[in-house]
Amino acid sequence: MKIFIDTANVEEIKEVASWGILDGVTTNPTLLAREIKRTGRKPEDILKEICEIVRGPVSAEVTALDWEGIVREGKELAKLSEYITIKVPMTIDGLKATKILRSEGIMTNMTLVFSPNQALLAAKAGTTFVSPFIGRLDDVGHEGMLLVEEIMEIYENYAFETEVIVASVRHPMHIVEAARIGADIVTAPYKVLEKISKHPLTDIGIERFLNDWKEVMGG
Ligand code: G3P
Repeated sequence: MKIFIDTANVEEIKEVASWGILDGVTTNPTLLAREIKRTGRKPEDILKEICEIVRGPVSAEVTALDWEGIVREGKELAKLSEYITIKVPMTIDGLKATKILRSEGIMTNMTLVFSPNQALLAAKAGTTFVSPFIGRLDDVGHEGMLLVEEIMEIYENYAFETEVIVASVRHPMHIVEAARIGADIVTAPYKVLEKISKHPLTDIGIERFLNDWKEVMGG
């Protein structure tokens, strides 16, 4: 399973990239706006730097809602780097724009997907990635991970090439479940990625080994 980080924070991306486990990055207007406010930098500069760090797919979301606008904005964003993936909202205009962007060789990530039928249409439009939002479904009392299972089953039935990004991940169990289902990718915030590297028994074990060693060897 590929692991993406869901952030536009360059420091967080550099840190996780240094662990050697990072395959890509997802951003959205909320995440990018937060970094623009925090750093005063231009969005294009932030995105370019992220692409240079990760050298894998970096999702940048359009804000236009009509298909012509999405295509225009998508093409502009794609000029920033070969790694830019255009994040397009799951609407009829989004489907039209996806088909056009893909026909021009631009990677796309269909976002805000909340049903298996939306994911079916996204794959038929030829999107490179699809992003079901698991945590937001959990928030309204639906089991988000069931949606991922349904999408995986449908995509397998028809051998769609679209890769499933489990998004809106909130806690470590989302990652375990995504991996057990065999999802292609999980995108998670820094805090969740940090948590999955840790276990209290690992820390206790290290301390015990070092104490036993010191007792004999000194130091
Ligand atoms: O990748 C999607 C993500 O940015 C949305 O997460 O926690 O705002 O639902 P959240």
